[in-house]
Amino acid sequence: MDETSRSVHLEIRGTVAIVTIDSPPVNALSNAVRRDLKAVLDTVAGRGDLTFLVLHGARTSFVAGADIREMDLPAEAPSLPEVVQALDRLAIPTLAAITGACLGGGLEIAMACDARIATADARLGLPETTLGIVPGAGGTQRLPRLVGPRMAAEMIGSARLLTGAEARDGGLVDLLDPSPLAAALTYGLGLGKRRVSDLPCMADDSEAFAETVAALKARHRRSVAATTAIDLVVASTKVPFEEAVARERAAFLTLKDSDTARALRYAFLAERGTGAGMAKWDMASLRQVGVVGGGTMGTGIALAFGLAGVSTTVIERDDASCAAARTRFADQLAILVGKGRVTQVRSLEILGATEVSTDWQALRPCGLVVEAVYEDAAVKKEALAGIVRHITDDALVATNTSYLDLDALAGAVGTPSRFVGLHFFAPAHVMKLVEIVPAAATSRGTIEAAMAIVRRLSKTPVLSGNREGFIGNRIFDAYRRHMEYLLEDGADPDRIDGALEAYGFAMGPFAVFDLSGLDIAWAMRKRKAATRDPRERYVRIADRLCEAGDFGRKTGQGWYDYSGTERRLSARAAAVIDEERAARGIERRPFTDEEIVARALSVMANEGAALLAEGVAASVSDIDVVMISGYGFPRAKGGPMYAADRTGLSRVVDEMEAAIRAGGGVGEVAPLLRKLADTGEPLASLPRRAPSADR
Ligand code: 3HC
Repeated sequence: MDETSRSVHLEIRGTVAIVTIDSPPVNALSNAVRRDLKAVLDTVAGRGDLTFLVLHGARTSFVAGADIREMDLPAEAPSLPEVVQALDRLAIPTLAAITGACLGGGLEIAMACDARIATADARLGLPETTLGIVPGAGGTQRLPRLVGPRMAAEMIGSARLLTGAEARDGGLVDLLDPSPLAAALTYGLGLGKRRVSDLPCMADDSEAFAETVAALKARHRRSVAATTAIDLVVASTKVPFEEAVARERAAFLTLKDSDTARALRYAFLAERGTGAGMAKWDMASLRQVGVVGGGTMGTGIALAFGLAGVSTTVIERDDASCAAARTRFADQLAILVGKGRVTQVRSLEILGATEVSTDWQALRPCGLVVEAVYEDAAVKKEALAGIVRHITDDALVATNTSYLDLDALAGAVGTPSRFVGLHFFAPAHVMKLVEIVPAAATSRGTIEAAMAIVRRLSKTPVLSGNREGFIGNRIFDAYRRHMEYLLEDGADPDRIDGALEAYGFAMGPFAVFDLSGLDIAWAMRKRKAATRDPRERYVRIADRLCEAGDFGRKTGQGWYDYSGTERRLSARAAAVIDEERAARGIERRPFTDEEIVARALSVMANEGAALLAEGVAASVSDIDVVMISGYGFPRAKGGPMYAADRTGLSRVVDEMEAAIRAGGGVGEVAPLLRKLADTGEPLASLPRRAPSADR
């Protein structure tokens, strides 16, 4: 018998039931999949002639979990717990044959089977807390019964995924096999019933467990989902299975509808939607990549490619620079090894696949060469001209620039259709965001290739129009200016940083300035001084710190003093702030956290609306992705545009008017923002369009 019309197929081979979940792209548990799977399980339960059942996923995944796209819709029966229960209750032995992603609800299904066979490179885990929820179909109760409560609390609380091999070592997987389906068919006959739900609670009163729980809860204190999930794992050691599963379900349903979970789902889909409408590019042609310039950025970019399994050739100007680049590269890699992010063996492979050379001929086999030399148009043009002399006609050429005009650089590339800007963020092998900036002559094929290449690096590409600051730095610049107005008006840097960090930012703006170096923004301000609107309020405090040689962390002092263990406002910054306030006759006034956050968010949303109107950003969600993945905006708040919709655009406009007054009346509320506020439509109603901005 073969039933193939639905998202779940049932094949009866002799006395074996083979159940295939077949719902592209990743076999997520949509309404249809749950319905079809439950129907198939009911069919199997109703037959008396079967000896065992094997469950597997079509194509490369087992099951990637609940369908995130459907989570905001009203729930349809059967629920996942009902499906899991039907599987758990089958009288015949059941095996999960696991390849690829076996995540969230997918792992909950696999754990409702009596045994699991996986490939060594399968990925298994319960990453629900990254979506602001807890596992909702028994995951917090079955996982501890298989791997022990300590490991389960750590895995679920930290959303840690295991490879098949690690899962076997931990007890989650019974057998590794490169062909799990074939292995399951072979071993199924000898298998008895071993329901995970029937396994005893592993009571754990040990001090080590209590310490692990306390440490995990402290580490994840900002995540209600994570702390709740850890408590549920603790419950698995004390409370009967059925009762604990009911608790888990109640927590799941409450959290699923929380603002945080909604924002996290939005962020998940926004990140995957940045290339919407673009054709897929065949990555097979990209075996080798060149990077010209082996500074911090160049070696970081080379390492990003190395981590993705692409061989790289880094070009430097002389032997001493090559040696320095090699050291830099090896040091960055060693840090990853130290943190356990890369194995020793893998790091040796990456080192072996990375060549650092003064010989430009070595670029010949490269399918892409990224120029990462000093941020100066003349220097970059020279590097680009050198690149095109040494590569094949079909190779792509990219510039890693954070603000230069792509059209001005494109002239140095003989065939500018193959030229594109790739704005990596430092450290390039860590930061997820890459802004993709086409010049006017860049072909669509080149843009599509760039999007695919960045995805291959497990990074998030966002298309930006070619305008100064692109998307991120343009918003960040407005944010910086307005935070400096607040500072001069009375909120000290630690007040502002504290308020924004409490909101969820990884770091407040002044801590970020110190980290990236105050001299960088200072140089930019000097460069733009001649064109600055003379009516614009200009806060001189940062300039004065730079004049005194305080560039932030790299000099040990900037806004903060880094000589102690704790962040402390620097004495010089405090004195300069007071002097500047006095010099301008500003009477210091207090600001609440809410005022500081409202100001920061409205400024970002306003600049974002301007970028949309100018065609620099293609969509509202692209802007949110830029701010989350490149600038530490809290993911749990969905990004500044998403947050503005939640606040209500009329309030955002009012706040922006106050911000403009604080800035001396210069600037305007973005007309698009005002229009939407007037009509009551959200930013989310704006359609995606192709960025078209030119300078
Ligand atoms: N639901 C809906 N769509 C999903 C999905 C999911 N759970 N997981 C992935 N997708 C979609 C993506 O949106 C993307 O769609 P697109 O091609 O139309 O843009 C496509 O699948 C491919 O995804 P990626 O671009 O992320 O591909 P990768 O190969 O890089 O990664 C993955 C694949 C590892 C499965 C990754 O997508 C992932 O981590 N997915 C989320 C897994 C997860 O969090 N599962 C838990 C869900 S919550 C749950 O199960 C609750 C339960 O306990 C009740």
